[in-house]
Amino acid sequence: MRTRAAALALAALALPLGFLIPTTTPAASPLPDSQDPATVGPLFVDAWPASDAAKRGKAAYEANCIGCHGPEGLGDGGAAAWLDPKPRNFQKGYFKFRTTASGQLPTEDDLFRTITKGLPGSSMPGFPLVAEGTRRDLVAYVLHLAAFGKGQAHARYLMDEEGASAKDVAGARLSEIAGRVHADQFDGRKRIPVGDAPAATPDVLARGASIFKQQCASCHGTTGRGDGGSSYTLRDWQEAEIRPRDFTSGTFRSGNSARDLFIRMRSGLNGTPMPAAVSEPDADVWAVVLYVMSLKQPGTIPATRRMGAEGGN
Ligand code: HEC
Ligand code: HEC
Repeated sequence: MRTRAAALALAALALPLGFLIPTTTPAASPLPDSQDPATVGPLFVDAWPASDAAKRGKAAYEANCIGCHGPEGLGDGGAAAWLDPKPRNFQKGYFKFRTTASGQLPTEDDLFRTITKGLPGSSMPGFPLVAEGTRRDLVAYVLHLAAFGKGQAHARYLMDEEGASAKDVAGARLSEIAGRVHADQFDGRKRIPVGDAPAATPDVLARGASIFKQQCASCHGTTGRGDGGSSYTLRDWQEAEIRPRDFTSGTFRSGNSARDLFIRMRSGLNGTPMPAAVSEPDADVWAVVLYVMSLKQPGTIPATRRMGAEGGN
Protein backbone atom coordinates (compact mmCIF):
# COMPACT_ATOMS: atom_id res chain seq x y z
CA MET A 1 0.00 0.00 0.00
CA ARG A 2 1.29 3.41 -0.91
CA THR A 3 1.60 5.93 1.91
CA ARG A 4 0.23 9.45 1.65
CA ALA A 5 3.76 10.86 1.76
CA ALA A 6 4.79 8.66 -1.13
CA ALA A 7 1.72 9.66 -3.11
CA LEU A 8 2.56 13.33 -2.55
CA ALA A 9 6.17 12.75 -3.56
CA LEU A 10 5.03 11.06 -6.77
CA ALA A 11 2.64 13.91 -7.51
CA ALA A 12 5.49 16.39 -6.96
CA LEU A 13 7.63 14.49 -9.46
CA ALA A 14 5.03 14.90 -12.18
CA LEU A 15 6.40 18.31 -13.17
CA PRO A 16 5.07 20.10 -16.23
CA LEU A 17 7.91 19.42 -18.62
CA GLY A 18 6.74 20.14 -22.12
CA PHE A 19 7.82 17.27 -24.32
CA LEU A 20 9.24 15.32 -21.41
CA ILE A 21 7.23 12.86 -19.39
CA PRO A 22 8.20 11.79 -15.87
CA THR A 23 9.46 8.22 -15.62
CA THR A 24 8.75 7.59 -11.98
CA THR A 25 5.64 5.62 -12.81
CA PRO A 26 6.06 2.78 -15.26
CA ALA A 27 3.94 2.82 -18.42
CA ALA A 28 0.36 1.67 -17.86
CA SER A 29 0.42 -2.04 -17.24
CA PRO A 30 -2.32 -4.51 -16.46
CA LEU A 31 -0.21 -5.78 -13.55
CA PRO A 32 -0.07 -3.79 -10.31
CA ASP A 33 3.12 -2.05 -9.22
CA SER A 34 5.66 -4.16 -7.33
CA GLN A 35 5.70 -4.06 -3.59
CA ASP A 36 7.74 -1.65 -1.53
CA PRO A 37 10.62 -3.23 0.37
CA ALA A 38 8.78 -3.14 3.67
CA THR A 39 5.76 -5.10 2.50
CA VAL A 40 5.66 -8.86 2.61
CA GLY A 41 3.75 -10.92 0.06
CA PRO A 42 2.49 -14.48 -0.05
CA LEU A 43 5.22 -15.85 -2.37
CA PHE A 44 8.71 -17.13 -1.56
CA VAL A 45 11.62 -16.18 -3.77
CA ASP A 46 13.07 -19.68 -3.74
CA ALA A 47 9.77 -21.17 -4.96
CA TRP A 48 9.49 -18.79 -7.96
CA PRO A 49 10.12 -20.73 -11.20
CA ALA A 50 13.79 -20.28 -12.16
CA SER A 51 15.71 -21.02 -15.35
CA ASP A 52 18.93 -23.03 -15.04
CA ALA A 53 20.90 -19.84 -15.69
CA ALA A 54 19.11 -18.06 -12.83
CA LYS A 55 19.79 -21.01 -10.52
CA ARG A 56 23.50 -20.80 -11.33
CA GLY A 57 23.35 -17.00 -11.05
CA LYS A 58 22.10 -17.22 -7.48
CA ALA A 59 25.42 -18.63 -6.24
CA ALA A 60 27.39 -15.93 -8.05
CA TYR A 61 25.00 -13.33 -6.68
CA GLU A 62 25.58 -14.54 -3.15
CA ALA A 63 29.34 -14.38 -3.69
CA ASN A 64 29.46 -10.91 -5.27
CA CYS A 65 26.34 -8.83 -4.81
CA ILE A 66 24.52 -9.70 -1.63
CA GLY A 67 26.49 -7.30 0.61
CA CYS A 68 24.95 -4.34 -1.21
CA HIS A 69 21.81 -5.62 -2.95
CA GLY A 70 20.66 -7.85 -0.07
CA PRO A 71 19.72 -11.54 0.19
CA GLU A 72 16.54 -11.20 -1.90
CA GLY A 73 17.63 -8.24 -4.01
CA LEU A 74 15.65 -5.62 -2.11
CA GLY A 75 18.65 -3.26 -2.05
CA ASP A 76 19.08 -3.82 1.68
CA GLY A 77 22.49 -5.49 2.00
CA GLY A 78 24.70 -4.73 4.99
CA ALA A 79 26.55 -1.92 3.18
CA ALA A 80 23.41 -0.21 1.86
CA ALA A 81 23.01 2.14 4.83
CA TRP A 82 26.31 3.86 3.96
CA LEU A 83 25.75 4.19 0.25
CA ASP A 84 24.35 7.09 -1.76
CA PRO A 85 22.79 6.35 -4.16
CA LYS A 86 21.39 3.19 -2.60
CA PRO A 87 21.93 -0.18 -4.27
CA ARG A 88 19.09 -1.07 -6.61
CA ASN A 89 16.04 -2.93 -5.31
CA PHE A 90 15.66 -5.51 -8.09
CA GLN A 91 12.23 -6.65 -6.96
CA LYS A 92 10.82 -3.19 -7.50
CA GLY A 93 11.66 -3.42 -11.17
CA TYR A 94 12.85 0.17 -11.67
CA PHE A 95 16.04 -0.02 -13.71
CA LYS A 96 17.71 3.21 -14.73
CA PHE A 97 20.05 2.21 -17.53
CA ARG A 98 18.20 0.58 -20.36
CA THR A 99 17.87 0.59 -24.11
CA THR A 100 14.14 -0.06 -23.63
CA ALA A 101 11.26 2.38 -23.43
CA SER A 102 10.35 4.30 -20.29
CA GLY A 103 8.86 2.05 -17.62
CA GLN A 104 10.05 -1.23 -19.18
CA LEU A 105 12.52 -3.76 -17.83
CA PRO A 106 16.04 -3.69 -19.29
CA THR A 107 17.24 -6.23 -21.87
CA GLU A 108 19.67 -8.99 -20.96
CA ASP A 109 22.40 -7.06 -22.79
CA ASP A 110 21.66 -3.88 -20.82
CA LEU A 111 22.20 -5.71 -17.54
CA PHE A 112 25.24 -7.51 -18.88
CA ARG A 113 26.80 -4.15 -19.66
CA THR A 114 25.98 -2.73 -16.20
CA ILE A 115 27.40 -5.78 -14.43
CA THR A 116 30.52 -5.79 -16.60
CA LYS A 117 31.29 -2.06 -16.52
CA GLY A 118 29.66 -0.91 -13.29
CA LEU A 119 28.07 2.52 -12.89
CA PRO A 120 30.79 5.22 -12.65
CA GLY A 121 29.92 7.89 -10.12
CA SER A 122 28.15 5.37 -7.86
CA SER A 123 29.46 2.54 -5.69
CA MET A 124 28.24 -0.09 -8.18
CA PRO A 125 31.48 -1.79 -9.26
CA GLY A 126 32.10 -3.49 -12.60
CA PHE A 127 32.82 -7.22 -12.64
CA PRO A 128 34.92 -7.65 -15.79
CA LEU A 129 36.97 -10.42 -14.15
CA VAL A 130 33.97 -12.62 -13.42
CA ALA A 131 33.72 -15.16 -16.25
CA GLU A 132 31.41 -14.06 -19.08
CA GLY A 133 29.10 -17.05 -18.65
CA THR A 134 28.77 -16.29 -14.96
CA ARG A 135 27.94 -12.65 -15.74
CA ARG A 136 25.18 -13.93 -18.06
CA ASP A 137 23.92 -16.10 -15.18
CA LEU A 138 23.94 -13.05 -12.90
CA VAL A 139 21.81 -11.23 -15.49
CA ALA A 140 19.34 -14.10 -15.41
CA TYR A 141 19.20 -13.98 -11.62
CA VAL A 142 18.65 -10.20 -11.50
CA LEU A 143 15.75 -10.61 -13.96
CA HIS A 144 14.49 -13.55 -11.89
CA LEU A 145 14.31 -11.27 -8.85
CA ALA A 146 12.58 -8.55 -10.90
CA ALA A 147 10.03 -11.07 -12.18
CA PHE A 148 9.50 -12.37 -8.65
CA GLY A 149 8.81 -8.82 -7.40
CA LYS A 150 6.16 -8.38 -10.07
CA GLY A 151 4.72 -11.83 -9.29
CA GLN A 152 4.56 -10.99 -5.61
CA ALA A 153 2.60 -7.82 -6.36
CA HIS A 154 0.24 -9.70 -8.68
CA ALA A 155 -0.32 -12.40 -6.06
CA ARG A 156 -1.19 -9.79 -3.47
CA TYR A 157 -3.59 -8.21 -5.90
CA LEU A 158 -5.33 -11.55 -6.51
CA MET A 159 -5.70 -12.00 -2.76
CA ASP A 160 -6.83 -8.45 -1.95
CA GLU A 161 -9.11 -7.85 -4.93
CA GLU A 162 -10.26 -11.29 -6.02
CA GLY A 163 -10.28 -13.14 -2.72
CA ALA A 164 -7.70 -15.77 -3.76
CA SER A 165 -6.12 -17.66 -0.86
CA ALA A 166 -2.42 -17.44 0.02
CA LYS A 167 -2.16 -21.19 -0.44
CA ASP A 168 -3.56 -20.96 -3.96
CA VAL A 169 -1.38 -18.12 -5.24
CA ALA A 170 1.75 -19.76 -3.81
CA GLY A 171 0.74 -23.19 -5.11
CA ALA A 172 -1.83 -24.10 -7.74
CA ARG A 173 -1.80 -20.66 -9.39
CA LEU A 174 1.96 -19.96 -9.21
CA SER A 175 2.80 -20.95 -12.77
CA GLU A 176 -0.18 -19.00 -14.10
CA ILE A 177 1.13 -15.92 -12.24
CA ALA A 178 4.65 -16.47 -13.57
CA GLY A 179 3.30 -16.80 -17.12
CA ARG A 180 1.39 -13.55 -16.72
CA VAL A 181 4.49 -11.71 -15.48
CA HIS A 182 6.58 -12.95 -18.37
CA ALA A 183 4.01 -12.05 -21.01
CA ASP A 184 3.48 -8.62 -19.48
CA GLN A 185 7.00 -7.60 -18.50
CA PHE A 186 9.39 -9.50 -20.74
CA ASP A 187 7.71 -10.14 -24.08
CA GLY A 188 6.79 -6.48 -24.55
CA ARG A 189 10.29 -5.05 -24.15
CA LYS A 190 11.24 -2.93 -27.13
CA ARG A 191 14.61 -1.47 -27.98
CA ILE A 192 14.69 2.26 -28.59
CA PRO A 193 15.58 2.93 -32.24
CA VAL A 194 18.71 5.03 -32.63
CA GLY A 195 20.29 6.37 -35.81
CA ASP A 196 23.62 8.13 -36.39
CA ALA A 197 24.55 11.28 -34.52
CA PRO A 198 24.69 14.39 -36.70
CA ALA A 199 27.83 16.54 -36.73
CA ALA A 200 28.02 18.99 -33.84
CA THR A 201 27.92 22.15 -35.94
CA PRO A 202 27.55 25.54 -34.22
CA ASP A 203 23.90 25.60 -35.39
CA VAL A 204 23.14 22.23 -33.84
CA LEU A 205 24.82 23.24 -30.57
CA ALA A 206 22.85 26.49 -30.50
CA ARG A 207 19.62 24.53 -30.96
CA GLY A 208 20.74 22.20 -28.15
CA ALA A 209 21.53 25.13 -25.88
CA SER A 210 18.08 26.59 -26.36
CA ILE A 211 16.33 23.26 -25.62
CA PHE A 212 18.60 22.80 -22.62
CA LYS A 213 17.65 26.18 -21.23
CA GLN A 214 13.94 25.41 -21.54
CA GLN A 215 13.84 21.74 -20.58
CA CYS A 216 16.89 20.87 -18.51
CA ALA A 217 18.34 23.92 -16.74
CA SER A 218 15.74 23.94 -13.94
CA CYS A 219 17.32 20.71 -12.68
CA HIS A 220 20.77 20.53 -14.29
CA GLY A 221 21.55 24.25 -13.88
CA THR A 222 22.21 26.88 -16.54
CA THR A 223 25.87 25.82 -16.84
CA GLY A 224 25.09 22.11 -16.41
CA ARG A 225 26.64 21.77 -12.96
CA GLY A 226 23.60 19.96 -11.60
CA ASP A 227 22.64 22.96 -9.47
CA GLY A 228 19.38 24.17 -11.03
CA GLY A 229 16.66 25.79 -8.91
CA SER A 230 14.78 22.54 -8.26
CA SER A 231 17.90 20.36 -7.99
CA TYR A 232 17.90 20.37 -4.19
CA THR A 233 14.30 19.24 -3.83
CA LEU A 234 14.38 16.13 -6.01
CA ARG A 235 13.59 12.67 -4.65
CA ASP A 236 13.70 9.22 -6.19
CA TRP A 237 10.87 6.68 -5.80
CA GLN A 238 12.13 5.76 -2.33
CA GLU A 239 12.07 9.41 -1.34
CA ALA A 240 15.86 9.49 -1.14
CA GLU A 241 17.41 12.80 -2.20
CA ILE A 242 18.72 12.63 -5.73
CA ARG A 243 20.92 15.19 -7.49
CA PRO A 244 20.87 15.82 -11.24
CA ARG A 245 24.08 14.90 -13.05
CA ASP A 246 26.86 17.51 -13.19
CA PHE A 247 27.75 17.62 -16.88
CA THR A 248 30.96 19.58 -16.36
CA SER A 249 32.46 16.47 -14.75
CA GLY A 250 32.03 14.45 -17.94
CA THR A 251 31.18 11.34 -15.84
CA PHE A 252 28.07 9.46 -16.87
CA ARG A 253 26.88 6.30 -15.19
CA SER A 254 26.20 4.27 -18.26
CA GLY A 255 28.37 5.33 -21.15
CA ASN A 256 29.40 8.75 -22.43
CA SER A 257 29.05 8.42 -26.20
CA ALA A 258 26.45 10.48 -28.08
CA ARG A 259 24.62 7.24 -28.78
CA ASP A 260 24.51 6.30 -25.09
CA LEU A 261 23.17 9.71 -24.12
CA PHE A 262 20.60 9.67 -26.93
CA ILE A 263 19.24 6.37 -25.60
CA ARG A 264 19.35 7.71 -22.02
CA MET A 265 17.25 10.71 -23.11
CA ARG A 266 14.70 8.53 -24.89
CA SER A 267 14.48 5.95 -22.09
CA GLY A 268 14.59 8.25 -19.06
CA LEU A 269 15.82 6.84 -15.76
CA ASN A 270 13.02 4.75 -14.24
CA GLY A 271 12.31 5.57 -10.62
CA THR A 272 13.95 9.02 -10.77
CA PRO A 273 12.68 12.49 -11.70
CA MET A 274 14.89 12.40 -14.82
CA PRO A 275 12.25 12.41 -17.57
CA ALA A 276 12.12 10.56 -20.89
CA ALA A 277 12.03 12.49 -24.17
CA VAL A 278 9.48 10.32 -25.91
CA SER A 279 7.97 12.42 -28.66
CA GLU A 280 10.59 15.00 -29.61
CA PRO A 281 12.10 14.66 -33.12
CA ASP A 282 15.44 12.84 -33.24
CA ALA A 283 17.19 16.02 -34.42
CA ASP A 284 16.23 17.86 -31.23
CA VAL A 285 17.30 15.00 -28.97
CA TRP A 286 20.66 14.79 -30.76
CA ALA A 287 21.07 18.57 -30.47
CA VAL A 288 20.57 18.58 -26.71
CA VAL A 289 22.82 15.52 -26.31
CA LEU A 290 25.65 17.17 -28.25
CA TYR A 291 25.19 20.33 -26.24
CA VAL A 292 25.37 18.35 -22.97
CA MET A 293 28.59 16.72 -24.20
CA SER A 294 30.08 20.13 -24.91
CA LEU A 295 29.52 21.24 -21.30
CA LYS A 296 32.56 19.38 -20.05
CA GLN A 297 34.65 21.96 -21.84
CA PRO A 298 32.26 24.78 -22.72
CA GLY A 299 32.76 26.27 -26.15
CA THR A 300 34.31 23.14 -27.64
CA ILE A 301 32.74 20.97 -30.29
CA PRO A 302 32.49 17.31 -29.25
CA ALA A 303 33.93 14.72 -31.64
CA THR A 304 30.55 13.16 -32.18
CA ARG A 305 31.21 10.98 -35.16
CA ARG A 306 33.88 9.03 -33.36
CA MET A 307 32.03 8.85 -30.03
CA GLY A 308 28.71 8.15 -31.69
CA ALA A 309 30.14 5.22 -33.61
CA GLU A 310 31.73 3.62 -30.57
CA GLY A 311 28.52 3.47 -28.62
CA GLY A 312 30.40 2.25 -25.55
CA ASN A 313 31.68 3.46 -22.24
C1 HEC B 1 29.49 -1.97 -3.24
C2 HEC B 1 28.07 -2.13 -3.45
C3 HEC B 1 27.57 -2.89 -4.66
C4 HEC B 1 27.91 -4.16 -5.06
C5 HEC B 1 28.90 -5.13 -4.44
C6 HEC B 1 27.08 -4.44 -6.21
N1 HEC B 1 26.29 -3.37 -6.50
FE1 HEC B 1 24.94 -3.25 -8.01
N2 HEC B 1 24.52 -1.34 -7.51
C7 HEC B 1 25.05 -0.67 -6.44
C8 HEC B 1 24.52 0.67 -6.40
C9 HEC B 1 24.85 1.72 -5.36
C10 HEC B 1 23.63 0.78 -7.47
C11 HEC B 1 22.77 1.99 -7.84
C12 HEC B 1 23.53 3.00 -8.71
C13 HEC B 1 22.62 4.10 -9.22
O1 HEC B 1 21.48 4.22 -8.80
O2 HEC B 1 23.08 4.84 -10.07
C14 HEC B 1 23.63 -0.51 -8.14
C15 HEC B 1 22.87 -0.79 -9.25
C16 HEC B 1 22.83 -2.04 -9.86
C17 HEC B 1 21.97 -2.38 -10.98
C18 HEC B 1 20.94 -1.47 -11.60
C19 HEC B 1 21.21 -0.97 -12.99
C20 HEC B 1 20.06 -0.13 -13.49
O3 HEC B 1 19.88 -0.09 -14.72
O4 HEC B 1 19.32 0.47 -12.71
C21 HEC B 1 22.23 -3.70 -11.29
C22 HEC B 1 21.57 -4.52 -12.38
C23 HEC B 1 23.23 -4.16 -10.38
N3 HEC B 1 23.59 -3.14 -9.53
C24 HEC B 1 23.71 -5.45 -10.37
C25 HEC B 1 24.69 -5.90 -9.48
C26 HEC B 1 25.18 -7.25 -9.48
C27 HEC B 1 24.67 -8.37 -10.37
C28 HEC B 1 26.15 -7.30 -8.52
C29 HEC B 1 27.06 -8.47 -8.18
C30 HEC B 1 27.73 -9.12 -9.29
C31 HEC B 1 26.23 -5.99 -7.91
N4 HEC B 1 25.33 -5.17 -8.52
C32 HEC B 1 27.10 -5.64 -6.89
C33 HEC B 1 25.98 -1.16 -5.55
C34 HEC B 1 26.56 -2.40 -5.59
C1 HEC C 1 13.12 17.14 -13.00
C2 HEC C 1 14.55 17.28 -13.02
C3 HEC C 1 15.27 16.93 -14.31
C4 HEC C 1 15.07 17.45 -15.56
C5 HEC C 1 14.03 18.45 -16.02
C6 HEC C 1 16.08 16.86 -16.41
N1 HEC C 1 16.86 16.00 -15.67
FE1 HEC C 1 18.44 14.93 -16.36
N2 HEC C 1 18.67 14.09 -14.54
C7 HEC C 1 17.94 14.40 -13.42
C8 HEC C 1 18.41 13.61 -12.31
C9 HEC C 1 17.86 13.65 -10.90
C10 HEC C 1 19.45 12.80 -12.80
C11 HEC C 1 20.28 11.79 -12.02
C12 HEC C 1 19.56 10.47 -11.94
C13 HEC C 1 20.36 9.44 -11.19
O1 HEC C 1 21.46 9.73 -10.71
O2 HEC C 1 19.88 8.34 -11.10
C14 HEC C 1 19.60 13.13 -14.21
C15 HEC C 1 20.54 12.54 -15.05
C16 HEC C 1 20.75 12.90 -16.37
C17 HEC C 1 21.76 12.33 -17.23
C18 HEC C 1 22.80 11.30 -16.81
C19 HEC C 1 22.69 9.91 -17.36
C20 HEC C 1 23.89 9.07 -16.97
O3 HEC C 1 24.12 8.05 -17.66
O4 HEC C 1 24.60 9.35 -16.02
C21 HEC C 1 21.67 12.98 -18.43
C22 HEC C 1 22.51 12.76 -19.67
C23 HEC C 1 20.58 13.93 -18.32
N3 HEC C 1 20.05 13.85 -17.06
C24 HEC C 1 20.18 14.79 -19.33
C25 HEC C 1 19.10 15.66 -19.22
C26 HEC C 1 18.70 16.54 -20.30
C27 HEC C 1 19.44 16.71 -21.61
C28 HEC C 1 17.56 17.16 -19.88
C29 HEC C 1 16.68 18.13 -20.64
C30 HEC C 1 16.21 17.70 -21.94
C31 HEC C 1 17.28 16.70 -18.52
N4 HEC C 1 18.25 15.80 -18.18
C32 HEC C 1 16.23 17.13 -17.76
C33 HEC C 1 16.91 15.31 -13.34
C34 HEC C 1 16.39 16.02 -14.40
